[in-house]
Amino acid sequence: MPQLVFSGKQIPPLEPASLRLESVVWPPGQSPSDALPPNRLLWGDNLAIMSALLPQYEGKIRLIYADPPFFTNRRYRARVGRGEDSRKPETWRLAEGYADRWASLDDYLAFLYPRLVLMHRLLAPNGTFYLHLDWHAAPYARVLLDEIFGPKRLINEIVWVYHGPSPIKRAFNRKHDTILMYAKGDDYMFNVDAVRVPYNPNTVATFRSSPKAGFGKVPDLARGKVPEDWWYFPVVARLHRERTGYPTQKPEALLERIVLASSQEGDWVADFFCGAGTTAVVANRLGRRFLCADATQQAIQTSRLRLMRGQAAFAVEADQQLYRPPQPFPAEWTPAVEDGWVSLPQAALAQAEGWEVGYWTDGVFYSTAQAVRAPRATEPPPARLPWKEKNRTLAVRLTALDGAVWLWQG
Ligand SMILES: C[S@@+](CC[C@H](N)C(=O)[O-])C[C@H]1O[C@@H](n2cnc3c(N)ncnc32)[C@H](O)[C@@H]1O
Repeated sequence: MPQLVFSGKQIPPLEPASLRLESVVWPPGQSPSDALPPNRLLWGDNLAIMSALLPQYEGKIRLIYADPPFFTNRRYRARVGRGEDSRKPETWRLAEGYADRWASLDDYLAFLYPRLVLMHRLLAPNGTFYLHLDWHAAPYARVLLDEIFGPKRLINEIVWVYHGPSPIKRAFNRKHDTILMYAKGDDYMFNVDAVRVPYNPNTVATFRSSPKAGFGKVPDLARGKVPEDWWYFPVVARLHRERTGYPTQKPEALLERIVLASSQEGDWVADFFCGAGTTAVVANRLGRRFLCADATQQAIQTSRLRLMRGQAAFAVEADQQLYRPPQPFPAEWTPAVEDGWVSLPQAALAQAEGWEVGYWTDGVFYSTAQAVRAPRATEPPPARLPWKEKNRTLAVRLTALDGAVWLWQG
């Protein structure tokens, strides 16, 4: 079997991250309990994070979706602030997103290879792995995955096609990504009925007018068809409801198809390059448990706020080396507490992407109610939140528009 040779091809000695619990989010109506929610959002380099997860999750994860940097040699910035509408640049500012810069292709592949090996180890024997790339590196990754999974384990090479502006004048516009889908074993899950789509109206009309149109084979028109291995979904830039401002965010519809096809309720779904948290949001909505990680604080903050909007229960952990404690509230932000409600003054709300009430124990914030600004909204988040925990000391956490985290303790 052909093998890919590049300098730096090795699995470095594993150095597991030391994970520190940062916060636990219980959506309103779900009482906090001593047991942590199963869902985990993890901040750190995924090589160290995955190494730390191996003892607990090796061979247990049903579905892993990976959307790493594509080897574009670009630096991506996030748009943060009140809205991120391209037509109103005065309402947002640029923040550090993530870097996709490499000394060479060898350098990039030496980054990718050990991470692919660890994801393969974490995958359940009946699990499925999706690697999302584009023309820059997908052909090399295909060879690496053939080595790791075995060449017979490639289930599909999926092509995601989309539209969008492009400055290219001397080539066809590059408007597709490649998603390589591999199974770890023969008995992988594929929920065919969960992903069926309606037949093209022309096909329906043809069969309605002539049952012989299919040379004796009449499709079940009402049931719909299995999608082809090329998918059209609009890019997030065109999806106003979904845009977070985090760069290279993927559409929820794309993840929904993957999660529905290759997992069932209660399964573990993981994404160790989670960016704006698309996989976590979709997995949670579909009743799966999630493990998601990213190396940048911007990604973790974006995912955290987005998961709170989706009323998810989850724990946030950070590699101990990255953890920074929240800053104390300035005096003018002091909340008011009355009749089981906490309110924030306008000065604080104007700065808030989101805020939460809860309690602070042993350096961990336990969130019991959350108010989050609607995506791209200019209006502040709601000013009042319920506080019912009579036996605990109130704490308030605020995530500012610039991503800084602030804490008030009663
Ligand atoms: C293409 S983006 C993922 C976008 C995501 N699928 C979404 O829908 O928002 C790639 C992500 O990988 C993260 N990343 C890059 N290197 C990483 C590493 N070593 N460990 C963890 N995350 C990493 C980047 O910070 C970035 O958020």
